[in-house]
Order: sequence, then structure tokens, then C-alpha cells
Amino acid sequence: FEKSKGFPQDFLWGSASAAYQVEGGWDADGKGVSNWDKFVRIPGKTFKATTGDKAVDHYHRYKEDVKLMAEMGLKTYRFSIAWTRIYPNGNGEVNEAGLQFYDNLINELLKYGIEPMVTVYHWDMPQALEDQYHGWESRQIVDDYVNYAKTLFERYGDRVKYWITMNEQNIFTSFGWLKGMHPPGKENDMKTFYQVNHHANMAHAKTVLALKEMYPDAKVGASFAYSPCYAYDRKPENAMAKADYDDLQNYWWMDVYAYGRYPRSAWAYLESQGVTPQMEDGDEDILKKAAALVDFMGVNYYQTCVAEYNDINGVGMTNTMNNTGEKGTAQVQGVPGLYKNPANDFLPTTDWDWTIDPMGIRMCCRDITSRYDLPVVISENGLGAFDKVEDGQVHDPYRIAYLKAHIEELKKAIDDGCRVLAYCTWSYTDLLSWLNGYQKRYGFVYVDREEDENSGTLNRIPKDSYYWYKKVIETNGEEL
Ligand code: BG6
Repeated sequence: FEKSKGFPQDFLWGSASAAYQVEGGWDADGKGVSNWDKFVRIPGKTFKATTGDKAVDHYHRYKEDVKLMAEMGLKTYRFSIAWTRIYPNGNGEVNEAGLQFYDNLINELLKYGIEPMVTVYHWDMPQALEDQYHGWESRQIVDDYVNYAKTLFERYGDRVKYWITMNEQNIFTSFGWLKGMHPPGKENDMKTFYQVNHHANMAHAKTVLALKEMYPDAKVGASFAYSPCYAYDRKPENAMAKADYDDLQNYWWMDVYAYGRYPRSAWAYLESQGVTPQMEDGDEDILKKAAALVDFMGVNYYQTCVAEYNDINGVGMTNTMNNTGEKGTAQVQGVPGLYKNPANDFLPTTDWDWTIDPMGIRMCCRDITSRYDLPVVISENGLGAFDKVEDGQVHDPYRIAYLKAHIEELKKAIDDGCRVLAYCTWSYTDLLSWLNGYQKRYGFVYVDREEDENSGTLNRIPKDSYYWYKKVIETNGEEL
């Protein structure tokens, strides 16, 4: 074997965020109300009823944040655009002040040579579209989504080369229609869940086609929350449980992005349950055309899982996630008759019961390379932890250890022949964790605030991991 090839010279060392989680300014300069602005106001939905009203005030402090990125040497910054800043009502009249904000942010990044990587949709849907036609539940969303995306391409396409159509469709749809934990807060509504996904797939596909027509050289993909799965043991029924899990939980989405079709065995299962989505004439063709134009698979990697056979009376999908930071409170979930996902006792976990499995990032890259032969953009990877300020500093050796181990495995994936274009950590600054408030911190940059909207100065403090990542970037991943 040859010595490690290491990271390519043009490798994009990055970090990421999402509009609702960092911006604040929830009603500033003509911004409309999003489904999240509304959802967080329903009692009991988020940890200590935290909102993103002010978040970490990136809307007003973006210059300071970008300056810190530049000092760190960041190559790319992945952020999302709030649809409600551009179209306060989802469609209709465009809001120039909203467009201007992202112009300023993009220009600020480019001033320092930082490549903007833009997510069109990271979960904050205009509430007006929920009110008009129930958002994703109606096919009408496809045209409004594409119209919104085209507005972004027209305005920023001359400067933005990397586009992510959608963030974690698998998470926002399963949390929204199966687990009741995201808007619109529905539980076990399988039929609507699959219909919503088909609409999202069509919105993604038509967005890809629109972008490539306007900017053929732009690079585009969707970001998928990919949890590679291990069979519980060598028992054949557990190996089949893994196959079922992969078809329904991983390939159901990735096959659409990369091949433009649904996996056959998953489709057969949906037919058996009477929950196949309704498709229109021409949909398959559009999905296929878009898949042929996609440039990469975006992967948000946090953890692997385990599949074990689950009998017909076994556990289902419920709201049983640990969102308190009290270890050991998450419960097993599954699909009766197919699989359940017990904990993996070979692996350590975070305080929120997420398994820590660096090898999983290599598995993501390997699987995508073998199955789709597509380049990979790691669009998120990181550790949520309780960070503490001591004498004005934040020592986070656990985060450094986590990221180091994952980057080492990513390097192996590249040596294995995988084409990896970028690695974006989650997150750049601390930010609002949708369901876990501000206690669960992911950033390189600490932000002085807590759940109480009136607490904290919002001052930024680079953590130890900030200086460590600076070195990683400087040495192109040689010094970890
Ligand atoms: C991903 C999302 O699911 O994970 C992010 O794209 C999110 O928006 C991140 O913040 C971490 O999740 P959590 O629940 O720990 O905040």
C-alpha cells in the first residue's frame, strides 16, 4: 500500500449553521413569520420554551462572525437562507431588505476568500404557506419552492457556486409527521409522511433543473442525515432487519437524489401498508433528469445505528428522544414487523445518547461511492456538549478529540478512493439546538447566552477547538 494521499489541495475545510438557529431578528426588516416562529410558541414543544427570536444575533453580528472565520482560515461557510426574509408570505412580493442581508453576508465572505455554500431550505417554512395550503402537504408547495429558489439563483448565482437544495428531508419529515416533534407536529401519519416526501423530492428535483439551466457550472446536491446501520448480530433475521432499515431509512431518500427512483423493496412495503405517495405523470422523468445532474451527496453525519428484528407487536416510532442532556433517557424505536434500533453497547455516547462512532463517517463515504459513485460533501459533523467558560476561556478537549477522530476516518475514506469535496463541522458559533435550547453547544465559537432571552451579552469567545481547527486547516489535515 502507498502512503496516505491525504486531503486534496483544494479541499474545502468548513463549518455550518442554519438561519433559524443563528440569525435572530425574527421580525426584522420585513421578515415574515415561519412555521418555527409559531411552533416554538406552543407550550412544551422545545426545551424550556426557547425560541430563535434572538438566537445568537448573527443577523446583526455577521461581520464579527465572518471576521473570526477569516482569522481561522475557514475555506467554506455553509449557511441557510430564511425563505421568510425573501418572501415574507412564501410567494408573491419579494422583500428587498431580506435579499440585501444575504448579499451582504455573501460579499463579506468573499472579501476574505471564504466560499459560500448555501442551503436553500433548512426547515423554516413560511407560516403563510402552512395557512394557505398546509405547506409540504400540498403539491402547490413545489411551484412556490422553485420560485423561491430561482429568486436566490438569480440574485446570488454569480457569486455562489455550491448549493444545497434541502437539509435533512428525512429528519424534518419524520419529526414533523411521524414523531410530532417538528411542525406541523403530527404523529404516525404514514400516508401524509410519504406524500410530503414526494412533494419535497419534486421540489428538490425541479430546483436542481432550474439551477443547472441558469448556471450549468454550479455544484448542487441535497444534504441527507445519514446513519449507517449495523446488523445487531449474525442472525439472518437481524441482517434482514438491516436491509429493511437501509431501504426505508437511507436509500429511500438517497436513491431518489442519486438515481431518481424509489427503492423497489421499500415501495413494495409501502404498497402493503397502503401508504404509497401519489405521483403525477412525468414525475419519474423529472426525478431522473435531476439525479443525472446532481454533483454530490451532502451528508450530515452524527451517528450510526443498529438494526434488530422487531416483531409485529414490537416498538414503533414515538417521541422518545433524550432532549434533556440526561444520559440514558432515549428509548428504542422501530417499525413493527421489520426492525428496531437498540443502542450499540460497543460505542460511547454523548450526553444526549447519540453514539460516537468515527468509523461511521468512512462508512458513509464508502457506501455512497460504491452505490452511487458520487462525490461527497460532509455538510455537518460535530459534538453537542455542555461547554463552560473558565477565566474567559472555553476548554473543549472532548470536541477536539471527537473531530480529530472523525477527520482521521475521513482521510482513510479518501485513501479508499472516495471523492470528498468538503468537510463542514456543525457548527461554527454556538447556536440554538431546535429542541434542546442553548445548553447543547456545538460551536468553535462560544456565545454568551442561555435559554432566558434576556440573559447573556452575546459576546463571542473562540474555544480551544477554534485554535485547533485553525491548525488543521493550515496544515491541510496533516496536523490533527
Ligand atoms: C442536524 C440539523 O439534524 O443536526 C441541525 O441539520 C441540528 O440543524 C443538528 O442542529 C444537531 O441536532 P441537535 O438536535 O443536537 O441540535
